[in-house]
Amino acid sequence: MRTVLGIESSCDETAAALVRGAVGGSRTILAQRIASQDDAHRPYGGVVPEIAARAHAERLTPLIEATLADAGMTLADVDAIAATAGPGLIGGVMVGLVTAKALAMASDKPLIAVNHLEGHALSPRLSDPSLAYPYLLLLVSGGHCQILLVEGVGQFRRLATTIDDALGEAFDKSAKVLGLGYPGGPALERLAREGNAKKVALPRPLLGSPEPHFSFAGLKSAVLRAKQSGEYADADIAAAFQQAAVDCLLDRLRRALKSAGEVTALVVAGGVAANTAIRTALEGLATAHDLPFVAPPMQLCTDNAAMIAWAGLERLEQGQSDPLDIAARPRWPLDPSAEAVRGAGVKA
Ligand code: KG4
Ligand code: ZN
Repeated sequence: MRTVLGIESSCDETAAALVRGAVGGSRTILAQRIASQDDAHRPYGGVVPEIAARAHAERLTPLIEATLADAGMTLADVDAIAATAGPGLIGGVMVGLVTAKALAMASDKPLIAVNHLEGHALSPRLSDPSLAYPYLLLLVSGGHCQILLVEGVGQFRRLATTIDDALGEAFDKSAKVLGLGYPGGPALERLAREGNAKKVALPRPLLGSPEPHFSFAGLKSAVLRAKQSGEYADADIAAAFQQAAVDCLLDRLRRALKSAGEVTALVVAGGVAANTAIRTALEGLATAHDLPFVAPPMQLCTDNAAMIAWAGLERLEQGQSDPLDIAARPRWPLDPSAEAVRGAGVKA
């Protein structure tokens, strides 16, 4: 059993966590704290990188101290220090990574530079110890919408990505159009519950396309036109948007399941995986394909440090660690061999 301190600061959540466990064994989140910056960014309707970096710099160190205190631990009790080293907003990533380097140096413990996307991708293994490689993963967040074949730590095959907006971004922008404020995803989901999706006809971009990829820009624009027409209730637009998103996800996943070969499970991760309608639809798809469906609990879906600690722990078990001069990376694809696709975002 090993204990890893995880640090996350790549977007607008400052987070620290202590995870203890072993691959193939039990695992426990000993303590975790998340300081959300939602209030600081709300007036701007989105994350302002400069404000985010400053807030991480102010909050991170006391947050780590408090997390250690929650678990009744000191750095001496930790086996390694893992921090998000990218992809993400570079100012914030640097705050987290440099803090981790300093702690690693002061405590003489290994440093593990974690890819934020790998944190999301492996988070289902933190909550479900029986989840084995290879699994088919839908990774849906504010900056990414990808289907990945997860074959092991650091071993990813990207089967599909978005050619324009990420799904979380489409949720956030559609929510803004409907006057729901920031962050929009959860608010749009709440409003959609009161609406009737059949009352508004919205497009399903790339549905049935021989290409494997996603596209959400056209759907987002259609939401804007529906709102501007003044003909529809906001709740119906929200419900129709969410249904169109679900239909696109299912269609692209069906295609990916055909090309992926044998997989142990259908898995979803990333902030948008907190959406209940999407989770329910994916569960149905998995059942139809005779596959288990695995989704981390809601609080492990959105950005958190427990997933970074867990990804660090898996790397540590493989004997991996990183030198103190490792660089922060604003861009860091999980599958470097995948061809670049127009518009794929940097935010995770
Ligand atoms: O992974 P994440 O916490 O942050 C990064 O993007 O790195 O994902 C945040 C995204 C946001 O776009 C947010 O609106 C979306 O996840 N999200 C949701 C829900 N909860 C969060 N989207 C739809 N339904 C939700 N319940
Ligand atoms: Zn994320």
